[in-house]
Amino acid sequence: MDKLVVECAGRLSGSVEISGAKNAALPILIGCLLAESPVKLSNVPHLMDVTTTIQLLASMGVEVMFDEHLNIEIDASNITKKEAPYELVNTMRASILVLGPLLGRFGEAKVSLPGGCAIGSRPVDIHIKGMEQMGATILVEQGYILASSNGRLKGADISMSPVTVTGTENLLMAAVLAEGTTTLRNAAREPEVTDLAEFLNKMGANITGLGTDTLVIEGVERLSGVEYSVIPDRIEAGTYLAAAAVSQSQLTVTKVNPKHLEAVLQKFEEAGAEIFCSEHEVTLDMRGRTLKPVNIRTDPYPLFPTDMQAQFLVMNALAEGCSTIEETIFENRFMHVSELIRMGADISIEGNTAHITGVKKLFGAPVMATDLRASASLILAGLVAEGETVINRVYHLDRGYELIEEKFHKLGAHIYRITD
Ligand code: UD1
Repeated sequence: MDKLVVECAGRLSGSVEISGAKNAALPILIGCLLAESPVKLSNVPHLMDVTTTIQLLASMGVEVMFDEHLNIEIDASNITKKEAPYELVNTMRASILVLGPLLGRFGEAKVSLPGGCAIGSRPVDIHIKGMEQMGATILVEQGYILASSNGRLKGADISMSPVTVTGTENLLMAAVLAEGTTTLRNAAREPEVTDLAEFLNKMGANITGLGTDTLVIEGVERLSGVEYSVIPDRIEAGTYLAAAAVSQSQLTVTKVNPKHLEAVLQKFEEAGAEIFCSEHEVTLDMRGRTLKPVNIRTDPYPLFPTDMQAQFLVMNALAEGCSTIEETIFENRFMHVSELIRMGADISIEGNTAHITGVKKLFGAPVMATDLRASASLILAGLVAEGETVINRVYHLDRGYELIEEKFHKLGAHIYRITD
């Protein structure tokens, strides 16, 4: 299994181009199941999760082709199988997103129930209840969700609580071909949800309320193929900016949408960073200063994202003073803390809150991450720790960060991969 070795290399500098958003690309790829003619997608990141999604689509009879610029053409006109098997759902929870489009277009779907997950139990009850409200019959048998509907799904008024990103996306994709009007209340407002809605509208759907917590969907008879470019990855951008913050450096992320990063940029400023934004770029400059501690509470968009929590935890671990980080979205999302403590951080956990006292120095150690963002936070710690940090289970990073070593090399970091 691959490992990443990270050595302290002092300050980072330069600029890094941000890839397309993983969490937008996955639902959009799956949304192609709804189209009766081929879709062309660009700015899709080359990631393990994207490969898994393409495998899943191909297993259903979808034709997938790449052009010389690595744009993807997806033709779902001849679906042969309406099933997401355990092996694929188990490696990537987002596979559950095929439920809505398959049920909406074909009136049937068989999808494995996702198992437990390193960052909490993550149920899918809201997805299931919403589809039942739209007239679907849903059975859970031998670990599979068996969904069917008698003719088209029917529009319904659906309130979701708590706010769920993939729940909103799944119900949105179920509703676009339903008969009548569906209202999704307390919908997730994440930019990735809006990107999916814009993509569906371009294909012929009729969704209003984009970017708000109430999405109204007038069902249409059919959707057809279009060309679409995925939005930039705000979490990848935030992770590189956090690398600049911990290493007291200056760096620029390009091909981003600064509006998607507002809550995060505000916290970087509170931590003592200077931030400069233009239309598609953000520069963070620490001017060699030590970080100030910042208190954080994770919440649904537009507030501070849970996917940036681990990175800010490392920043606070190196800040001058004490801080707290409260995780309200997922239980059990502090698995990186025990590894950071092994590197010399001073952190204690009480319920869903981490109490952090900044230290002057971290020390390299062999570490192991249990999820994607936790792994990213260990790279950040390794960049400034004295000595060598060896990160095990790199496959978590490969699920969500495109060309991570190459991008960090360009910024002057010492990171390399070893294969056992
Ligand atoms: C998505 C993102 C993930 C991000 C998360 C929160 C993708 C592929 N993943 O995950 O990176 O960290 O949003 O921004 O886009 N819940 C229920 N019942 C449900 C569904 C969810 O109780 O049916 C709960 C979850 O347990 C959790 C909360 O709702 O406590 C939010 O989860 P959700 O927004 O669904 O996360 P994901 O969509 O899985």
